[in-house]
Amino acid sequence: MADFQGYLVIFLLGLISIVIVKLLIKSKPAKSHLPPTPFALPIIGHLHLLGPKPHHVFHNLSVQYGPVFRLFLGSVPCVIFSSSESAKELFKTSDSAFLDRPRNSCMDYISYGGNSMIFAPYGSYWKFLKKIVMSELLNARTLDSLLPVRSYELDRFITFLSHKAKDAKPVELQAELMTMTNNVISRMLTGKMCTSEGDDEGVIRRIVTDIGEVMGTFNLSDHIWFFQNLDVQGVKKRSKEIRARFDSLIEKIINEHEEVRNEIKRKGEVKDLLDILLDISENECMEIKLTREHIKAFVLDIMGGGTHSSAISTEWALAELINHPNIMKKAIEEIDQVVGKNRLLQESDIPNLPYLQAIVKESLRLHPAAPVIQRQSIVDCSVGGYQIPAKTTIFFNVWSLGRDPNYWESPLEFRPERFEEKQMDVRGQNFQLLPFGSGRRMCPGSSLALMVIHVTLGSMIQCFEWKAGKDGNLTSVDMEEGTGITLPRANPLVCIPTARIDPLPLCM
Ligand code: HEM
Ligand SMILES: *[C@@H]1O[C@H](CO)[C@@H](O)[C@H](O)[C@H]1NC(C)=O
Ligand SMILES: *[C@@H]1O[C@H](CO)[C@@H](O)[C@H](O)[C@H]1NC(C)=O
Ligand SMILES: *[C@@H]1O[C@H](CO)[C@@H](O)[C@H](O)[C@H]1NC(C)=O
Repeated sequence: MADFQGYLVIFLLGLISIVIVKLLIKSKPAKSHLPPTPFALPIIGHLHLLGPKPHHVFHNLSVQYGPVFRLFLGSVPCVIFSSSESAKELFKTSDSAFLDRPRNSCMDYISYGGNSMIFAPYGSYWKFLKKIVMSELLNARTLDSLLPVRSYELDRFITFLSHKAKDAKPVELQAELMTMTNNVISRMLTGKMCTSEGDDEGVIRRIVTDIGEVMGTFNLSDHIWFFQNLDVQGVKKRSKEIRARFDSLIEKIINEHEEVRNEIKRKGEVKDLLDILLDISENECMEIKLTREHIKAFVLDIMGGGTHSSAISTEWALAELINHPNIMKKAIEEIDQVVGKNRLLQESDIPNLPYLQAIVKESLRLHPAAPVIQRQSIVDCSVGGYQIPAKTTIFFNVWSLGRDPNYWESPLEFRPERFEEKQMDVRGQNFQLLPFGSGRRMCPGSSLALMVIHVTLGSMIQCFEWKAGKDGNLTSVDMEEGTGITLPRANPLVCIPTARIDPLPLCM
């Protein structure tokens, strides 16, 4: 609804602008060295070009204007990049010039005043967060120590699916995968201490979904000056309400944690991420004192960043496998050979499953969960021979990169074999494939995300055959993209699982 109002307003402004232009046609002075730009309307700039899927619009414009071009979204100057060469300059050669993120007020609100890692401006606080994330929170040691939490949730998921299989009932995969990844992330964060477990899970899931929605709404007020103090789309109201809901939940959880913390220290039990954060906040030797607000913002970061993206990536990969039975068959053969049928696939099997890895890479190439990376330039800089002034909003089109015929043979074809022929990393080292971004602001959750996606997809096809459709009689599924800040499927995948092996005795 809010979205629709937004477009309506843009449309009306477009009309007014065209009239103004017709009235005062004047020639613009030539601007050298700045990237090329399409014709802009007064006031709204190029806002009228944007639709609900900005990555498509950017892609189409890049075909016309080249891999580096400029847009004005309202009064905000933006530069859009989409080539591998520009990625290398942006994220490697000149990384230090592009370490900021664009600010907008909905995010300010939801991120507790810019205290979240995703939206923190580049500076000492962000550096501090980056350090604790890499050394304490999402590093290999902590991820290892929380493996039992992930296995437990995966078992619950597989058990749930096998009940559905017994009854030959259809499963709404998007919703169920969301529940699973959300449980994995919230359990890693807040452990088993949430007393009223069932309720909290539902509440958290709702919050995460709502955040995705508001963030996906383009805030006109951020782009058009005379809307600055108006909330035309009602986004602000919703953001406030979401944060209030999150706040009361997280307050309760933190309080529960504080009560049992001393006990855990004595017993030497495994710490969850919130325990680690509380430890850091009590440590007087840290260069920055982590406050309660900081902790809340960070918890929200991990929930927002980690849940939806991993779930939709798994869903896309399964949809591709359903549409490519030969690839599915080859994947199952690999799993049967490496893991067998007498135990469930585990995270430790992943290094021995190169074809499964190739499938996940190929799926991330075509369906990157974050199709457009947003940054902001800190200083004047030059990329691809063009000048990029400081404070320019940068959009890097990851989606476009993965479909560029200059780097990929038959780019629209789903062919995991291309990654068997050519080893390629997805974690920011290879500038033709950047699902997690690159450089210092790259996604810090990539290891965790890849573990969850591989092990979930792998065990889903190890244990079940998947028949598409509510009646299980579709031979293929559509690949239409939905809208939002992540890249969900337009039509959630619905399938009926049939057991290949009975997982129940194998689950813990
Ligand atoms: C398939 C899953 C995921 C994808 C595709 C993804 C993708 C991305 C991308 C493209 C960025 C921006 C990188 C850049 O600016 O260069 C990012 C940032 C981030 N991601 Fe992820 N992500 C995923 C999962 C996760 C998980 C599981 C977590 C946490 C547990 C997470 C936490 C974050 C955080 C905190 C940032 C902000 C980093 C910063 O600004 O310094 N992400 N992610
Ligand atoms: C982009 O171009 C393709 C092919 O010309 C067209 O089908 C599609 O509708 C365009 N998308 C947008 C959002 O303009
Ligand atoms: C949209 O932007 C305006 C101006 O920056 C701000 O006042 C308003 O709160 C924003 N809306 C939301 C939901 O953040
Ligand atoms: C699948 O089965 C349903 C119900 O039996 C039927 O209505 C539908 O047309 C079938 N679809 C296909 C593609 O065969």
